[in-house]
Amino acid sequence: MSSSLQTGDSPRDVLPGGLVLRRATPKDREALVSLLTDAHRGPDGTPATSVGQWQQDLFDREHPTVGFDDMTVVEDQHTGMPVACLMVIPQTWSYGGVPLGVSAIELAATHPDYRRLGLMSRQLEALLAVSAGRGDLVQALVDILYFRSVDFHPALVARAGRGGKAHTLPPAPAEGEPVSLRPATVDDVPALIHADSQLRRRVLMSCLRNEAEWRHELTGRSPGAMMHNEVVMVEAGTRPAGYVVLGYGGIPSFPIPSWLPGLPCPEPAISVSGFELLPEVPWCEAVPSVLRQLTARGTSGTGGGGAEEYMLWLGAEHPAYDVLGDVLVRRPPSMGWFLRVPDVAALLRRIAPVLEQRLVNTPAESFTGDLRLHFYQHGLHMRFEAGRLTAVRPWAGHNRRGSDASLPEQMFLQMVFGHARWEQLAPAFPDCRLQTGTAHLLLPVLFPPQNSHIFPLV
Ligand SMILES: CC(C)(COP(=O)(O)OP(=O)(O)OC[C@H]1O[C@@H](n2cnc3c(N)ncnc32)[C@H](O)[C@@H]1OP(=O)(O)O)[C@@H](O)C(=O)NCCC(=O)NCCS
Repeated sequence: MSSSLQTGDSPRDVLPGGLVLRRATPKDREALVSLLTDAHRGPDGTPATSVGQWQQDLFDREHPTVGFDDMTVVEDQHTGMPVACLMVIPQTWSYGGVPLGVSAIELAATHPDYRRLGLMSRQLEALLAVSAGRGDLVQALVDILYFRSVDFHPALVARAGRGGKAHTLPPAPAEGEPVSLRPATVDDVPALIHADSQLRRRVLMSCLRNEAEWRHELTGRSPGAMMHNEVVMVEAGTRPAGYVVLGYGGIPSFPIPSWLPGLPCPEPAISVSGFELLPEVPWCEAVPSVLRQLTARGTSGTGGGGAEEYMLWLGAEHPAYDVLGDVLVRRPPSMGWFLRVPDVAALLRRIAPVLEQRLVNTPAESFTGDLRLHFYQHGLHMRFEAGRLTAVRPWAGHNRRGSDASLPEQMFLQMVFGHARWEQLAPAFPDCRLQTGTAHLLLPVLFPPQNSHIFPLV
């Protein structure tokens, strides 16, 4: 963020009506918790204490990546009170094993008397500059509703899930459950990191967590906070076998439940948002066992009794879905991650090792040549030599006729993030053109569709 935002006295930061855009400071703590609790009230007026508690935890429980610099407020100088706030939460995502700096946009609130004045848009602009200054390659949000004027594009599936009924799970084997469950503690952090790494064998993109970030999942969230998850260890005998995350996995509010403004969640279903096993543990044995035990235990919403249903919010694909098959009768629609890539060339340069690996064992192996992509308002020139991506730079003379492919940037990003392949996207972008044999050869190989699952650090 520009240093001027620290003082709030530069012309850029002074807004009409005696409002000032500035960074948050420790003095704003109580006012910001109140602002979020009030602004997110439910339709019946219930204060959103779970949202306020989420913010309170960020202040009090030492979030590993967020500081006051990551949060903006708009202050009404007449009252001295914050009337709007917004935050970015820095995190690291993996793209095929390559770490990418990502800023997730969260905790937006504007006091009802100050809405539709552009305060959110101004803060977003300032925070995106902070993120770009940090070198983040991706900026992400899951709720696009109020951010339509900036170039975030739907590029990944979020909160995809399937669910079933407890009574249709297969019965436990006569010799007893093959795995057992217990709450995770900070001593389990190395085992959690190891189990979590298994996810990256299956997906293209995921959120990386280091020791401090896993510890935060275990100790940094109050039970009443919207982002509180319960992390449970799965054990085979006394050995770690994997983990399960219970809760909403960092993405609130879908399907938008009636209880949203207040936790605990009374939904009478177990909500599983993370589930990984070590390679030596068979999914076909562990999945029914874990779900039998979780549903027998119930949720806070079932008053201590068992839960009749469970939901697996594990992405578009997951081994548990394959194990359970037709038993999974609930298939709710998914949400989207909206991603913004401030510098597409920089992103492609960063993921070059993944792109080069994709050429191996294909007809494009050891390719030497150029791929010119035309995105209508700008273009990119990718240079390959013997299968190595040696340069990615803006294409100054971009034009459709001279390109190998011409397509909107949104479509390209959906391909880069593995959301879908050219043929699947083309009907929605009828102006796209594959112009040359080079594009026909390279694009399907460089950007195959691949599942991703993001459990964001929020
Ligand atoms: C959503 C919220 C943060 C918007 O704040 P705001 O300061 O009024 O937003 P802005 O005036 O900067 O408007 C941002 C964009 O959203 C649009 N917008 C804002 N409120 C809108 C509404 N109720 N319906 C449709 N569009 C809306 C604006 O037109 C603007 O788009 P534009 O730049 O293309 O014109 C505010 O209404 C709020 O706090 N709501 C309650 C909490 C909430 O819903 N948070 C977000 C989801 S978690």
